[in-house]
Amino acid sequence: MCGIIGYIGNSKAAPILIEGLKRLEYRGYDSAGISTIDKNNIIVEKDIGKINEIENKINFSGLDGNIGISHCRWATHGSVTKENAHPHLDCSGNISIVHNGIIENFSELKQKLIKNGHKFSSSTDTEVIAHLIEDNYNGDIEKATRNALKQIEGSYALGVICSKEPDKLIAARNESPLILGLGKDENFIASDVPAILKYTNKVIYLENNEMAVLTKNNYLIKDINGNKINKKIVEIDWDSELAEKSGYEHFMLKEIHEQPRAITETLNGRIENGNINIKEELNLSNEELQKISRIVIVACGTSWHAALVGEFMLEELAKIPVEIEYASEFRYRNPVINENTLVIAISQSGETADTLSAIREAKKRNTKVVSIVNVKGSSISRESDSVLYTYAGPEIGVASTKAFTAQLVVLYLFTLFMSGLKKSLDDEKIKELLEKLRKLPLQMETLLNDNKEIKRISDIYKDKHNALFLGRGVNFPIALEGALKLKEVSYIHAEGYPAAEMKHGPIALIDKNMPVVFIATKDIYTYKKVLGNIQEIKARDGIVIAIATEGDEEIKKIADYVIEIPKTLYILSSILAVIPLQLLAYYVATDRNLDPDKPRNLSKSVTVE
Ligand code: M6R
Repeated sequence: MCGIIGYIGNSKAAPILIEGLKRLEYRGYDSAGISTIDKNNIIVEKDIGKINEIENKINFSGLDGNIGISHCRWATHGSVTKENAHPHLDCSGNISIVHNGIIENFSELKQKLIKNGHKFSSSTDTEVIAHLIEDNYNGDIEKATRNALKQIEGSYALGVICSKEPDKLIAARNESPLILGLGKDENFIASDVPAILKYTNKVIYLENNEMAVLTKNNYLIKDINGNKINKKIVEIDWDSELAEKSGYEHFMLKEIHEQPRAITETLNGRIENGNINIKEELNLSNEELQKISRIVIVACGTSWHAALVGEFMLEELAKIPVEIEYASEFRYRNPVINENTLVIAISQSGETADTLSAIREAKKRNTKVVSIVNVKGSSISRESDSVLYTYAGPEIGVASTKAFTAQLVVLYLFTLFMSGLKKSLDDEKIKELLEKLRKLPLQMETLLNDNKEIKRISDIYKDKHNALFLGRGVNFPIALEGALKLKEVSYIHAEGYPAAEMKHGPIALIDKNMPVVFIATKDIYTYKKVLGNIQEIKARDGIVIAIATEGDEEIKKIADYVIEIPKTLYILSSILAVIPLQLLAYYVATDRNLDPDKPRNLSKSVTVE
């Protein structure tokens, strides 16, 4: 949904902006641009393509000046052209802006501005902001920006510089994320933390309708009416190394391999003497927890798949009825929730607009909201009653991997905590179930160290046009996730289904060209039935790739390929089974010469509804 970064300080701005922009590229990569002020002149360079591609044509980092803004675009209004790339200028060329969001009344504003003599050079909604600021400029860029914003309807994270006031960087936010980064004799603005982590870990999260004026050694935050606001400085505890590829070819591969560490960090301090230590984080009284009679989980994409696994866990172990909602649908219905319902919101980024709106809807109805979020201080974490963080570290690859397994671990912990509280499981049983959880990081390591078979399968099937992913019970969501991963990064059409549902329609697709991935781990519930479903595919000449429990000889007799995962509880098998599917998607994408970190049309953080 576009990334922005701005810098003011003593260093040359351009290299810092471009490096930061590369860390934000997961937010948009159809075009990019930069603007600095050099000797009281605004300079702008921009083009279409990924930053590396543009850098082959334009020496971005060569731009002089100690103040600047830059942008990577995910187009909403206006096609992907050089003219529509940001930054955008006013008519005089003195004001330059970058924007993430959507200006909803841009059309009527544009007509008025044109009537007043403004000349537009793009078809974006953003450009109206530059001209509106120009219209309001009277020697004070802060005031002009404030007055312009008062006329705007919509969402924005905005960076503004003005050649007539080269010692000021202006930032403003409404609905789109924006942080200030506070350094020594230098300050930053950015859409997300990884962009500035190399320079500072001290950040301030701007809220809606807040503006900031940054100089190289100061900052001032005000509301839209110009009233001063004091805000808390948050210290980010991510290691800047985590935002680097560290020798891996892609972030996606690195993040798949980081899963054992992500799980260990997520468990850290949360299990003590066989007890689950999350009561304080949950920030709900015993009375509030006891009266929960129903849970509604809202999320999007991969986080929604995690929610489906959570439903299985909570109903199976804690015996609490659970419903899963697409966050984007939740607020446009009339959800029946009340003070006995707990809403759980799951989001890696903590900035997904649909999930944020669902939380607001729940809160309007007096329902407590607990969120499971990866990014500390993000909008969703701030607006929830409490947060159970996943400690997966920054996830930069657009396809979510380590955040997903960390979400499943938090859901499992929460399930066991509620099982204890609701007395659906006794302490001994909870201890036993926690022991299995503790083994997961090591089991993941084993799985990750042996991926030759997955690579071989991807080499053979990389040119297929379709694939099916089938699973049952707790592994049905894993089938959905496997299909989503493959679609996202390889552009192969893939569908996930409950294995038994296949015979109600999708079986018509099966022929000798159709690879079918089964998640067929051993369990007491459906394993035999899944074997039957595999036979049905084989009888129609389909190609079967099975994710199976190690040592399963039976499945080897019927499947074409078997990828083994270590033995664990059925309910935890989902956390292991997804790993080969992530790797499969990764290898197929790279075999097809695609960049899995930047799949076409996608953005890591979907901050528009
Ligand atoms: O940051 P969130 O978890 O709220 O993001 C939700 C989805 O946009 C996200 O999971 C998306 O589906 C990813 N591209 C999946 O890989």
